[in-house]
Formats: sequence, C-alpha cells, structure tokens
Amino acid sequence: MHRVSRRNFLKTGVSLSAATFLAGGNKILSRSQIGAPAGAGPCVVASNNGLEAVEKAMNMIRSGSDPLDAVIAGVNLVEEDPEDMSVGYGGLPNEEGVVELDASVMHGPTHNAGAVASLRNIKTPSRVAKLVMERTDHALLVGEGALKFALAHGFKEENLLTDKARQIWLRWKETLSERDNWFPPKMDKLAEELEPYISSYGTVNCIAIDSAGNLAGVTTTSGLAFKIPGRVGDSPIIGAGLYVDNDIGAAGSTGRGEANIITCGSHMVVNFMGLGSSPEEACLKALQKIAEKTRLQPHLVDDEGRPRFGLSFYAINKKGQYGSGSMWSGSTFAVHDGNEKKLKETAYLFKRDKNSRATRLRR
Ligand code: GLY
Repeated sequence: MHRVSRRNFLKTGVSLSAATFLAGGNKILSRSQIGAPAGAGPCVVASNNGLEAVEKAMNMIRSGSDPLDAVIAGVNLVEEDPEDMSVGYGGLPNEEGVVELDASVMHGPTHNAGAVASLRNIKTPSRVAKLVMERTDHALLVGEGALKFALAHGFKEENLLTDKARQIWLRWKETLSERDNWFPPKMDKLAEELEPYISSYGTVNCIAIDSAGNLAGVTTTSGLAFKIPGRVGDSPIIGAGLYVDNDIGAAGSTGRGEANIITCGSHMVVNFMGLGSSPEEACLKALQKIAEKTRLQPHLVDDEGRPRFGLSFYAINKKGQYGSGSMWSGSTFAVHDGNEKKLKETAYLFKRDKNSRATRLRR
C-alpha cells in the first residue's frame, strides 16, 4: 500500500512537475532498456468489476488468442451483464432515460485504435470499436454515425434500458427538483439502492500482455449516470481512458472522465512507465499531476485542496509487471497474474476520512 501525505503531495507535486515535465533530458526507455524478458507475460488487469473478465481473457491468451480479442471477450461479459449498471446493457441512462455507451480499444503490435461514443441500442460497444479500428480509416465514430456503422456490420438494435435502470432513473428524475411537475414516489424503496448510482462514472477497463510481450487494452462504459445527452467521457478517448505503447506498456482508467480527458491521463501513465516508473508509481504520479491541476478548479476540490472525485488507473509494463492507483483509498482492482485471478487493493494518493467523505462529489 502506498500513501502520499498531503504535505508530501504538495512537496512532491512541485518536484514532479519540475523533474518530469520540464526536464527535457529524460528519454523514453526502449523495451531492451527496461530489461523486458521475452515471455514476461501473460498478465491481465482490470477494474474491480472485471474479475471474471481477467479470467476469460487469460484463458483466451493461453489458448493463443490475440490479447485484444481476449480483453474484448473479457469485458463483453460485463457489457452483457444487466446487473452491472455502469457498462453496456443495464447501464444507467442519460437524463432523458436513454442509454448511451462509449468504448475504445487499442492494439499494441499494430499501434492502432478504434472507438465509439454516444452509441445507442448496441450491447457491446467494445466490439464496434474494434471494427472501427479494423474496417475504417478512422479512430472514433459517434452517435448516429456509430449506430449506422454497427448496423452495417450486422449488430442488432436492442433496448439497453433494463427495468431496474429505468426505475432508478425515474426516481432520480422525480426527486431532482421541487419546482417541476414530477412528484416523488410515496414509497421510496429505491432511496438506499439509488445512492451509489447518483452521478456514478462506473466503467470497466481491461489491459493485457501475452507471453510474447504484446499488449492490448479496452475501456467500455455507459458513462456518467443521468448525463446531458451527448456527453462523452474519457473511455473512448485514446490517451485519456486507454493507451497502449507496445514498447512500454498499457494503461486505462475509471472514474471522473472530465479530469482524465483534460490531462491525457492514460498516456501520462504510459509515459511515466517509459521514463522508468513502475506501473504503480506511474499511476500515482499521473494522479498527483491531476490532483495538482484540479486545484485550479475550486469547485472540484475540498477545503484541503484534494479532488472531490474518484479516479483510478490500471497499468501493465512490458516486463509483465502491473499496478493500480486511485485518487482515494478504499478501491480494488482485478488481476490474473498467470496463477490466479484476484482482487487487490489499489495504491492511493489520499486516505479517505470523514471530512473527505462529507465533501466528496457523489461521483
Ligand atoms: N470514466 C467514465 C466516464 O467518465 O464516462
């Protein structure tokens, strides 16, 4: 467990900026400089809702599948699971009650990527993202165009709004304001159940390295619950929600997408690994940089200058080493290290306390 105190954070935040962002002398290390042995993998890492995903991906990699096919098959389990309300089918809808999905994929050996954003009516946006990569000369398709592209490739339109997600959305809508014509429900059975979902950013990220040292990753989400229609998070943005450099490593993220988009978070994590940081250190350094920049937006920080939102990174380097870091303590991630699948605690920047809980954005 790695913890950075506020004082150390403020101190190291400055030195990090100086050392990492101003020192042009640092070079990205090549695979041989990192000392990556051939056959360092396989290893699969995911956000904590991806425990079954890492197992599926590991089994496929062991059977000779490309690591990108393996991680996509892994997250398909989550996308198709109506009980996961943060991804794919069953995901919480936008403010109008419509589910809009974002996803990206990136393939290390070809350094190619594909993504879709604000995609409606298709359960598995990660598969559409892979087709954008393979069957178009583009990297990102959105909205209507993404849907038409998916239909052209034979995907079937389905209603992604489960009854449970609809009920949660309806309660959110009915209790949003006392100045509209929607009355709150008389029997508020959903109140407690709703709490974790209000302004939830849930997402699944899965990254992998195979035994030949090839890397790949996927990030897929229904995005911010009850978002403004058309809002796009970090998940389909290459460099923000996902980045893979086959010479260095792979990284992905979950949490507040806006913070990650404006800092190119996953690219930053891979860059730190290229400069010699371990995966865990790289995640924490990126979080530290994001925390530092967040202080320029007063509405996003508590009275101690700490971000009032959650954000986590997951990383694997070319050696097959892995790690994860979260803005706040108390998070876990999933890994299959070749021996077993397990949930592990993430390293973190700030320890959650009573004060941080009270001032936290519900996100
Ligand atoms: N990280 C997911 C989102 O912000 O949409």
